[in-house]
Amino acid sequence: MMSGPLPRTGKAIPRLKGGLPFLGHALEFRRDPVGFIQRGRDLHGDIFSFLMFGNRIHVLTGPAGNETFFKAADSVLSAREAYQFTVPIFGKGVAYDVSPELMDQQLRLVHPALRDEKMQSYARLIAAEANACLDRWGDSGTLDLLAAMNEITIYAAGRTLIGAEFRSRLSGEFVRLYHDLEGGINTVALFNPYIPLPAMQRRDRARRRVVELISGLTAERRAGNAESDDFLNTLIRARAPDGAALSEDTITGLLLTLLFAGQHTSAVLATWTGILVLQNPRYLAAIMAEQEAVLDAQGMTLASLKQLVQLEACIKEAERLHPPLIMLMRKVLAAIEFNVHAIPAGDLVMVSPAVSHRISSSFAEPSRYDPDRFMPPREEDRRTPYSLIGFGGGKHRCIGLAFAYQQIKVIWSVLLKHYEFSLVDSAPEPDYTSLVVGPRAPCLVRYQRRRPAEWNPVPLRRSAAG
Ligand code: HEM
Repeated sequence: MMSGPLPRTGKAIPRLKGGLPFLGHALEFRRDPVGFIQRGRDLHGDIFSFLMFGNRIHVLTGPAGNETFFKAADSVLSAREAYQFTVPIFGKGVAYDVSPELMDQQLRLVHPALRDEKMQSYARLIAAEANACLDRWGDSGTLDLLAAMNEITIYAAGRTLIGAEFRSRLSGEFVRLYHDLEGGINTVALFNPYIPLPAMQRRDRARRRVVELISGLTAERRAGNAESDDFLNTLIRARAPDGAALSEDTITGLLLTLLFAGQHTSAVLATWTGILVLQNPRYLAAIMAEQEAVLDAQGMTLASLKQLVQLEACIKEAERLHPPLIMLMRKVLAAIEFNVHAIPAGDLVMVSPAVSHRISSSFAEPSRYDPDRFMPPREEDRRTPYSLIGFGGGKHRCIGLAFAYQQIKVIWSVLLKHYEFSLVDSAPEPDYTSLVVGPRAPCLVRYQRRRPAEWNPVPLRRSAAG
């Protein structure tokens, strides 16, 4: 709720006009949040405020505002207070339910699962999941690209986070439960996650069942004492600073945190990467040539995946044009200054990757698809700190960035090797009804299996006629 009086110091923050009592600008915001924030920026510049459900929200959109947002101490701008809607999903005692210090400590225990030797083994496991599509899809057909990417990344997350036993038992039940958990992330939950709406009740029932499924496995694993190549193994071996092992609840909570932070976001970014590349055949050809040059010679290793710089630039350009998280939030715990404005305690602050990524002083011709902007010598994202923020920044920057990029590289390397794709609808639009913003469903693509000769052509000998 609103903090009360605005501070006397500092210039007043421009307020977007209009809106309804209590709801404020909620309706317009829900319909087209990116257009709404862009309108605020066009009218007022780097900072403006608006009201939604009785909350005063200050929106910062330029790199300087992003920097203020990401550099503020947790005691000033709190992610924990802004993201309470995750607590009924991730669980009590982890992530945004605990102090920022304890959350940091918990996430540090995850780091060993992100080291190079583990990443190498995840690449293999994710490639196996992408290869499994070949049997499911057959030689040709039409599919919904986001649904397909969701399927691959759920299986990949099940395998890499929780392990082979879990993956082999991954059934329709888990997919349904996961869907119900996700249903608990909506605009209402953002402001009050405990309103007893049917979606919240389904969310709570689903979590209870997911906890049963995962904690049963953790107990089996502890009893068996075998090593395995998944995050669960890392968390079972982890010790808190006082030497204590993590409880089953903490392990389950952290696995759910990682699953929710990383699965749908990766599926969405993989989907936009594909859509944009299919819309731009020049880059598709460059990616294919790069894959032939690198992967055919070296196979899929950590080192060879790092050499896929053209594909990486295409993922970055998808991150820029269609960041899966279009806005990030903090609650103001202590008044903070931005430019000559004072932002009062009790309010909310928002930054928007989607709007910041299209600022022309940060990125040349920002609406144009131009992956080369990230290649040397241009490297536009390095020119201005905090201009590219699809994975956040500062101390809360995403811990899964390398995992997500690698996963998307692996998936598209496998799929493009075997299939030719084309978009059914040439210009899919973003779907703002979901907090993780993918294309509107269905995002149909046609696919056709490549003949081996197309992928690895034998050089043609010139005929005598030449
Ligand atoms: C395309 C995929 C992904 C995107 C776009 C993404 C985006 C983000 C963003 C924007 C933040 C910062 C949130 C904020 O400051 O409010 C964040 C934080 C986080 N992400 Fe990701 N993420 C992705 C994948 C992953 C994966 C694969 C994992 C885990 C393996 C992960 C785990 C986390 C965690 C734990 C945090 C919280 C970090 C902290 O507060 O210290 N993410 N992510």
